[in-house]
Amino acid sequence: MLLKCRYLSQFSVTELSKNASSIAPAIEKCPFMSFARRTIKTDSSTNQEAKQDFNYQLVHHGMLNNMNCTDPISCPFFKSGNQNLDNLATKRTFDDLKEINDEVTYEGSVRTIYKTKHQPNKSVTSTGSEVKASIKAKNGSLFDYEKFFANRLDEKKKDGSYRYFKKVIRHASTFPVVQEHAKNSVKDMTIWCSNDYLGFGRHPYVQSKVIEAVQKYGAGSGGTRNISGSTPLHDQLEYELAKLHQKEAALLFTSCYVANDTTLYTMAKLLPKCHILSDSGNHASMIQGIRNSAIPKTIFRHNDYDHLEELLSKLPNDIPKIVAFESVHSMDGSICDLEKMCDVTHKYGGIAYIDEVHAVGLYGENGAGIGERDNMLHKMDIITGTLGKAFGNIGGYIAGSSNFVDAMRSYGAGFIFTTSLPPSVAAGALAAIELSRSDEGRELRERHQYYANIVKERLSQAGLPVMDNPSHIVPVLVGDPKKASEICDRLLNEHGIYIQAINYPTVARGTERLRIVPNPHHTIEMVDKLVDCLINVWHSTGLKLHQAVEYKH
Ligand SMILES: Cc1ncc(COP(=O)(O)O)c(C=O)c1O
Repeated sequence: MLLKCRYLSQFSVTELSKNASSIAPAIEKCPFMSFARRTIKTDSSTNQEAKQDFNYQLVHHGMLNNMNCTDPISCPFFKSGNQNLDNLATKRTFDDLKEINDEVTYEGSVRTIYKTKHQPNKSVTSTGSEVKASIKAKNGSLFDYEKFFANRLDEKKKDGSYRYFKKVIRHASTFPVVQEHAKNSVKDMTIWCSNDYLGFGRHPYVQSKVIEAVQKYGAGSGGTRNISGSTPLHDQLEYELAKLHQKEAALLFTSCYVANDTTLYTMAKLLPKCHILSDSGNHASMIQGIRNSAIPKTIFRHNDYDHLEELLSKLPNDIPKIVAFESVHSMDGSICDLEKMCDVTHKYGGIAYIDEVHAVGLYGENGAGIGERDNMLHKMDIITGTLGKAFGNIGGYIAGSSNFVDAMRSYGAGFIFTTSLPPSVAAGALAAIELSRSDEGRELRERHQYYANIVKERLSQAGLPVMDNPSHIVPVLVGDPKKASEICDRLLNEHGIYIQAINYPTVARGTERLRIVPNPHHTIEMVDKLVDCLINVWHSTGLKLHQAVEYKH
């Protein structure tokens, strides 16, 4: 029975007997184990028929699909009472990580090694076919994957969170006027939701550097940095990013999603007894890394440094603590108090991990982000950023101390085992950073803020519910996924205005919104049209305007 539980099967019989008193009560809390106990009353481990029946029952009752049984490292039901076992599991995973990083280059995939290390006599395939066979024996049909996925999609379509992508042709020469290509037609539209915040993605200088690099070095990088090497452009870009953020070193990833996921996961696994404190508004990429690490975590209220302090003060002084948050929040546009957040973190021995994805290129004298604007770069231990938004290309990075960056380079699976960015992307990003540091970059940033303020002012004065914030993001609260999508569809179809509705799971249900992103390349005429059309569509969708609000710049 224990072998069926992926959490308990990690431990030896001696380890389990030592912890028997705390395991027994937890068995009742776990649906999988309590079900197993109820089902197998006699010693069925030697009884083939009973075993098959148990398998069938597990599948029939959806137990094998229970998410809680898929994680071999931690289990919510056993966790609280079994600190000893959890420590053992975490330590082992850390050791595995070290060994995996060493072994995997020669031996194959991480998954295979992990499975074989802990369950040398059991392979995933044999468990799978055993299950399939037992289902077939019982009801003669196998699992219907197509139906399953179609049903899950139907759920999304019903609750309005299904995503339909607009078909967009981004013309470099006319941006932010782009084209929608539908089945039989192509028509102009003005884009109000691009995260190419300054238009660097189509800047002639950036384009020329990308073209030059493609002609010189070809399209791809040819593999991982370990296998295909670091080109001078990769090295130069890492040097420039470190310099931009005033850190000792930087490391490139294929996106900031991957950078956040990999870095938080890897740090959490490397640091002994680590605890993560995560802002409640954190981006999915950070949540994913934290969740995958399965180490203890506490969530603090969005940008609330008093709450953060309250939580930090309850943790032991001597354990490592990662405090992870965003400087500019992607969806509500709030900006954290960097100084307070970093000071509180350091007071309790934490390390400050800050996502500047929506700030790099946009704030500070050189475009290094809020850290530079607020003169706080020295307090930020780890900075993560993207090359895909204001820097107009693609890719992500981390910046921090040399030892920290080297550790991520050496242990981070999401860095090690994937093809590096093409040299042309590195060339494009270098050109964008150069522009960002120039007078042109500073002028564009000023213009960008000017347009953000104008749009906020005009919409607020018209009584539209603009969510107040001090950044360049203009969120307008709708609070209903279907209405949010309808407004966007009508703006596009009737007025050639492209704004994306932001629905669950990107934002919480009930807070669905339009996320408007002004650009320095918009014009006042475009702003006028946006405001008029949005008011018009807002009314005809059956939504009410609020009392006009005086907007303060
Ligand atoms: C706050 C935040 N962090 C990280 C990312 C991921 O960045 P990238 O697009 O480079 O993967 C995003 C993307 O939207 C984001 O909004």
